[in-house]
Amino acid sequence: MNQSTDIIIIGGGIIGLSLAVELKLRSSGSVTVLSRNFSEAAAHVAAGMLAPQAEAIESAPMLDLCLRSRALYSDWISKLESLTGIETGYWQCGILAPVYQTPEQITAFWLNKDAIHQFQPNLGAEIVGGWWYPQDAQVDNRRALIKALKMAAIDLGVNLRENVAVQEIQQHQSQVTTLITNQGQFSASHYILAAGAWAGNLFSVPVAPVKGQMLSVRVPNSFSELPLQRILFGENCYIVPRRDGLIVIGATVEDVGFTPEMTPAGVNTLLDRAIRLYPLLKDFPIEEFWWGFRPGTPDELPILGASGLTNLTFATGHYRNGILLAPVTAKLIGDLILEGKSDRLLEAFRWDRFGD
Ligand code: GLY
Repeated sequence: MNQSTDIIIIGGGIIGLSLAVELKLRSSGSVTVLSRNFSEAAAHVAAGMLAPQAEAIESAPMLDLCLRSRALYSDWISKLESLTGIETGYWQCGILAPVYQTPEQITAFWLNKDAIHQFQPNLGAEIVGGWWYPQDAQVDNRRALIKALKMAAIDLGVNLRENVAVQEIQQHQSQVTTLITNQGQFSASHYILAAGAWAGNLFSVPVAPVKGQMLSVRVPNSFSELPLQRILFGENCYIVPRRDGLIVIGATVEDVGFTPEMTPAGVNTLLDRAIRLYPLLKDFPIEEFWWGFRPGTPDELPILGASGLTNLTFATGHYRNGILLAPVTAKLIGDLILEGKSDRLLEAFRWDRFGD
């Protein structure tokens, strides 16, 4: 049977779901999301940092995109929370980025050794200073945001289809004609490829998995208040405290394809780095381990906007910044598909920048 709809989004991660919600809020057309397995999306893995400054994104188009998305976050979250009643853990807690060697260039936001240890007690003794980014923030992606997006999508009438693996994107005369899946054929007037780390398996875009292993610990009940109330973003390690005492620690960056599972080396690396940065957590009980796959691209920038096919749009390859970039991606791709408006920012993220 061929199931037909106005727009099909291939991928049920944060980008696919954010787009589905945006499209349904702004139009009356039918929207279907096809997902092989919702729980494998990178959104279930990330720490939920909204960190354009801590991630040291310096080049103009990407920094513009990230700052624009961070600025959209508060309203976007309010809308989602009022649609669903789910509290998403959005917290403008700021990010402190300590370092072990004094940099040559000291810019605004720099705290010297005395200042940083006074500002944040219990940091590792080797820390010589760091940057404070008060506007960077976080959201509880795993436990709340992704649930809110899913619920909003369902309430708005999006057709969410899980266990549907797209096997082939069929084309004819510069158009997608049909998706061949393990559950039959699907067709639509327009298609969006938002398949994250799996996008490169479905279409000739250079997106490949970059594995991240993570774990969490919990602040013991003996603490009368949370010892950490801002994110620590160290060298190859971040520590993200949630308001309920959970502390998320991430993440490895591994080029091992889709090799699953935690590894002893991965856990060892995470714990060594986290304890060096914030030794207090060495006795905190471990709560959980998990891993997943970021959608990496050769230049580590997303692939957004028009494709070589008239009815296929790209929204993929967000690498380390999918949670942050969800609102701006939904907004700009929504403008493009529903109103034919192409923001100048999209130009920098075109699929054909990679050449052949
Ligand atoms: N956004 C942080 C990471 O991908 O590890």
